[in-house]
Amino acid sequence: MPDMPTAFWSGWIATVTIVSFVGLVWFIFSVYFSADAGQEESEGPVWDENLREGSNPAPMWWFWLILALMVFSVLYLMLYPGLGSYAGALRWSQGGRLNESMVDYESEFGGLRSLIAEAKLETLQADDALLRSAQRVFDRNCAVCHGYDAAGQASYFPDLTDGEWQWGGSPEQIEQSIRNGRNAVMVGWSPILGDDGVLQMVDYIKRLGQDDAGGHPAQPKYDQLCVACHGLDGSGNAALGAPSLIDDTWLYGNSDSALQHSIAIGRTGEMPAFGERLDETQIRLLVALLTQNSSQE
Ligand code: HEC
Ligand code: HEC
Repeated sequence: MPDMPTAFWSGWIATVTIVSFVGLVWFIFSVYFSADAGQEESEGPVWDENLREGSNPAPMWWFWLILALMVFSVLYLMLYPGLGSYAGALRWSQGGRLNESMVDYESEFGGLRSLIAEAKLETLQADDALLRSAQRVFDRNCAVCHGYDAAGQASYFPDLTDGEWQWGGSPEQIEQSIRNGRNAVMVGWSPILGDDGVLQMVDYIKRLGQDDAGGHPAQPKYDQLCVACHGLDGSGNAALGAPSLIDDTWLYGNSDSALQHSIAIGRTGEMPAFGERLDETQIRLLVALLTQNSSQE
């Protein structure tokens, strides 16, 4: 509490603490050691022939326990902040803890930090210790959504290990995804296609990329409504985040009901931006981690 507003309040709190403590000590001692403590009362009603309301002294082990707690309190208040703005002999503070952990972080990377931010990805990927740091950054920031193994969670968060990249798999594109986030927007098409049209489109999407897709009743609608983003052949467009519809990777699944949902209602996946939360070094490490497999192949 070193930032207590005024010395008066700090002194007030310290005084109240000390006065209450002394009062408590006096009370406890008076209970155990005053002149008439421990005397059995002989007066008073007798119940059920031989039960009487006495006032037997509290057991002594209570006293020792309370005494130990009091000694602990005094030591605690001497060592740690607790008495007004007195910082305690150990000068412990939460801010101090934070500073210490920042120092840890600095010493872990030391002068390396700016080097990491500039280094070639292959160099980073060859260094196991750096990859472990990268994995820690990933675990702390990304695993809640993408999972500790980065394999994603079906229908919610994309798999980052499958080599299929909705927004592009070059290091620059991946860095963009992390730094600025991504907002995928595909509106729902049921108002335009109608219920039957949606079902036909589901059927067409499942055949897309196969030989029997030509001449499908939904093809004209696809060519009119969907090519702008997903491309004539359905291979998608990384700049718009429009995924390929002809590979085996599905963000939201390729069951009839999943496709129906995607097409009729639309999908708006959102990847939060981390540019403000992570520094250059951390972002670089993450890019190295995520491009690990692609650059080794
Ligand atoms: C404005 C661009 C745009 C248009 C036009 C568009 N889409 Fe999409 N589509 C997207 C984007 C972006 C996503 C990814 C959504 C996400 O990540 O949440 C997507 C996702 C999908 C998916 C889910 C893919 C998966 O992997 O789960 C399907 C299916 C789909 N679109 C079909 C269509 C069909 C059919 C049409 C035409 C009727 C169409 N899209 C028109 C941009 C578009
Ligand atoms: C709140 C959940 C959430 C967190 C946290 C999160 N992501 Fe994502 N991320 C998503 C979603 C959802 C998408 C897909 C967006 C879309 O549909 O286009 C995504 C997409 C991505 C993509 C693009 C994938 C592609 O196929 O192009 C990358 C790369 C990525 N995330 C990396 C990360 C990294 C690295 C972190 C940690 C710094 C992270 N994400 C943290 C939800 C999250």
